[in-house]
Amino acid sequence: MKEKATGKSYAKIIWFGEHSVVYGKPAIAIPIYSVDVTATIRRINAGQNIHCRYFDGPVDQMAENLRGIKTLIDHLTNLLGAKDVAFDLTIESKLPSERGMGSSAATAIAVIRAFFAFFEVSLTRDMLLKLAEIEEKITHGNPSGLDSATASSSMPIWFIKNEINEQIDFNLPTSSLVIADSGIKGKTSEAVSLVHSNLVDQPEMADPLIQQLGTIAETARQALAEADDETLGKLMTQSQQNLAQLGVSNHTLDTFCQVACQNHALGAKLTGSGLGGCVIALAKNQADAQQISTALRKAGATQTWIQSFKNYQFSTGEA
Ligand code: MEV
Repeated sequence: MKEKATGKSYAKIIWFGEHSVVYGKPAIAIPIYSVDVTATIRRINAGQNIHCRYFDGPVDQMAENLRGIKTLIDHLTNLLGAKDVAFDLTIESKLPSERGMGSSAATAIAVIRAFFAFFEVSLTRDMLLKLAEIEEKITHGNPSGLDSATASSSMPIWFIKNEINEQIDFNLPTSSLVIADSGIKGKTSEAVSLVHSNLVDQPEMADPLIQQLGTIAETARQALAEADDETLGKLMTQSQQNLAQLGVSNHTLDTFCQVACQNHALGAKLTGSGLGGCVIALAKNQADAQQISTALRKAGATQTWIQSFKNYQFSTGEA
């Protein structure tokens, strides 16, 4: 066992395929390097404590709304034979929660990595994702697994629930995604239930929208291979229309998409579960990205980030 160990993870942005991914359609998602989570475990003399911006105190007194993380920590200490080991766990997260950026999954991934590093036990990618599922199921109900898969990846990924989780590489050296936080909270479990109710109550409306979102993700993968940013932008705007018809957009997110497109974005859409959270816009170059970001802040975005595609790097043997 080490004196101190850390685990890292990233915010995730779903570029194409949120909601339809729950129904077996493909999705493309990307990790956002600048918005990360670091979990640090230190050996101490007595007790098991957690420090983070959501909670500070003994692990066994964690608040009910952190049940997912508490259950995960209990599971990890059992699994690693560490029930009696005293530690301080500090979680430093740059992710706003309930904004479609995968805050809970990123926290779970960072914590699992920190625990395994602390106890010097090797961790496979499959194990990492299965352990993260313990927390994600408690927090979100029945998640597709896309959030954990992306939060733990150093590259964009192509994902089909229970089938494919592969890193993808593409060449868009000048383009970037502008991410704008509306500051409005959106609960994934509520958004997923809403789409489910629509599929049950109005299948003739909702089912074709889900099917199309799947086709859009496939077309986007082709456009990525051809470095066709104009098509990617149009597909984003088409996705936004489908997600809005499914009921998971709102006035602010629709307005942000319009503002982005009026300021040279090639396309824009909500990202993640919706009902709040963030919008992403595709910018052809750095100058456009800055203009879109400024316009979105003027329109009320509480935070914006610019993620360029040129920095992604494969990391071999990543768990
Ligand atoms: C949430 O980040 C993404 C959704 O597609 C739900 C999921 O994939 O489990 C809305």
